[in-house]
Amino acid sequence: MVVETQVQVHAGLEGIVVARTRMSKVIGEEGRLIYAGYDIHDLAEHATFEEVAYMFWYCCLPNRRQLLSFEDSLRSRRNIPFHVMDLIRSAPTLQSHPMSVLRTAVSALALGDPGSNDISQASNLRRAADITAKIPTIVAAHDRNRKGLEVIGPREDLDHASNFLYMLHGRMPSEVESRALNLYLVLLADHEFNASTFSARVTASTQSDIFSAITSALGTLKGPAHGGAAEQTMLQLLEIGDPDNVEAWYRAARAQGKRIYGMGHRVYKSQDPRAVHLQRATAQLAELGDPRWYQIALKLEQVAREDPYMIERKIYCNVDFYSAPLLYYLGIDPDLFTCIFAMARVVGWIGHLLEQYSDNRLIRPRSEYVGPEGLRWIPIDER
Ligand code: COA
Repeated sequence: MVVETQVQVHAGLEGIVVARTRMSKVIGEEGRLIYAGYDIHDLAEHATFEEVAYMFWYCCLPNRRQLLSFEDSLRSRRNIPFHVMDLIRSAPTLQSHPMSVLRTAVSALALGDPGSNDISQASNLRRAADITAKIPTIVAAHDRNRKGLEVIGPREDLDHASNFLYMLHGRMPSEVESRALNLYLVLLADHEFNASTFSARVTASTQSDIFSAITSALGTLKGPAHGGAAEQTMLQLLEIGDPDNVEAWYRAARAQGKRIYGMGHRVYKSQDPRAVHLQRATAQLAELGDPRWYQIALKLEQVAREDPYMIERKIYCNVDFYSAPLLYYLGIDPDLFTCIFAMARVVGWIGHLLEQYSDNRLIRPRSEYVGPEGLRWIPIDER
C-alpha cells in the first residue's frame, strides 16, 4: 500500500531560514541592511572596504594598528602567480566572458597552493587575504590583455579601490573615482543569504576547501538574476540612449512583458538602502563626465515608480540599478561589472565560509520525487 504524504515544497527556498549568521541582516519590509551590527548608512558614510573586510573576518572593527597590518597583508599579496597569468593570456580574447576567466583563474589559484585542502581557521584567513588581494589583479590583467594593452602590475602604496582603477586604466584615479569605487565595494560586500553566498556555504559544508567554495560562489554570482543584473542594466541604459527615450522604451518593454533590470528584489519590498548611496555617488561622477547615463537612470526610476504594476508588486530599484552607471562612469566595461561585484562580495563570502567551517553541518536538503515509479527495464533494442 502506498501511503500518500503531503510534502510542502519551498520552491527557491523563499523565506526558509537555513542557518544563523553574525554577518549581515536584511530587513526587507523596512529597506534596512545591517553589517555585523552596523547600519549600512553609517558604513557607507565612514568605512573603507578594507575595514569592512576586517570586520567580517575578525568580528570587530580594527583599531589603527590592526588596520595597517591588515592593509599591508592585502597589498603584499596582490601579484598573481605565473601559471594564473599564463592562463589569463591563453583565454580566447573575444569569446571569454570576464566572469568565466575570473572563475577559472580563482580556481587555478589553488593549483599553486599545496596545502589548499587545509580548512583550519589560520589557513583560511591566509587564503582569504590571498584571494581577496588577487581578484582585482586578475580582473584588470584580463581586461587589458583582451584589449591588447600592456598588463599593469599592482602598486603597494595604493588602497584596494585605487589600486584596481590604476591597474585597469594605467593612470592614477581621482579622489572622487576612488571614493566612488570604495563606496560600491563597501555596499556590495555582503547581503545575508543571497544565492552566491548560499552556494559558497553549501560547498564549504562538504568540508571542501575555500578555493572551491569561492569558485562555486563565482559561478552562482554570474547569472543575470543575481550579479549579472548590473551588466544587463547598463545595456538597458545604453539601448535607451537618451533621457527623452525613456518613457517610450519603458512602455514597449512592459508591453512585451520584459523584466526591467536593476529593479525588484526577493527580500526588499521597499527601497534598497544601498541604492540611495549609489545614486548620490553616480550623480557626482555624472558631473565630471557625460551626464546622460545618470539622467536616463533617474528618469527610468521615476517612470517605474509611477507604474501601478510596479507599485502593486513593491518593485523598487535594487543595488544594481545605480551600480551600472556608477561603474560605467569609472570607465569599466559592462561585461566587467559582475567581476567588480565579485571583488566586493568575496569578503562577505569568506566571512560566511569562516562561520560555516567553524560550526559545520552538511547542507543537504530533500526533494519531492514527481517522476514515474514501478517501471521495468527495457532492453535497448525494444525501446
Ligand atoms: N521588472 C518587471 N517585473 C518584475 C520585475 C522587474 N524587474 N521583478 C519582478 N517582477 C514581477 C514579476 O514579473 C512577477 O509578476 P507576476 O506576479 O505578475 O508574475 C512579480 O514581479 C514577482 O516576481 P518574481 O520573479 O516572483 O520575484 P522574485 O522575488 O523571484 O524576483 C528578482 C526577484 C530579482 C529575480 C526579480 O525582481 C528580477 O528578475 N529583477 C530583475 C533582475 C535584477 O535586477 N536582479 C538583481 C537582483 S539584486
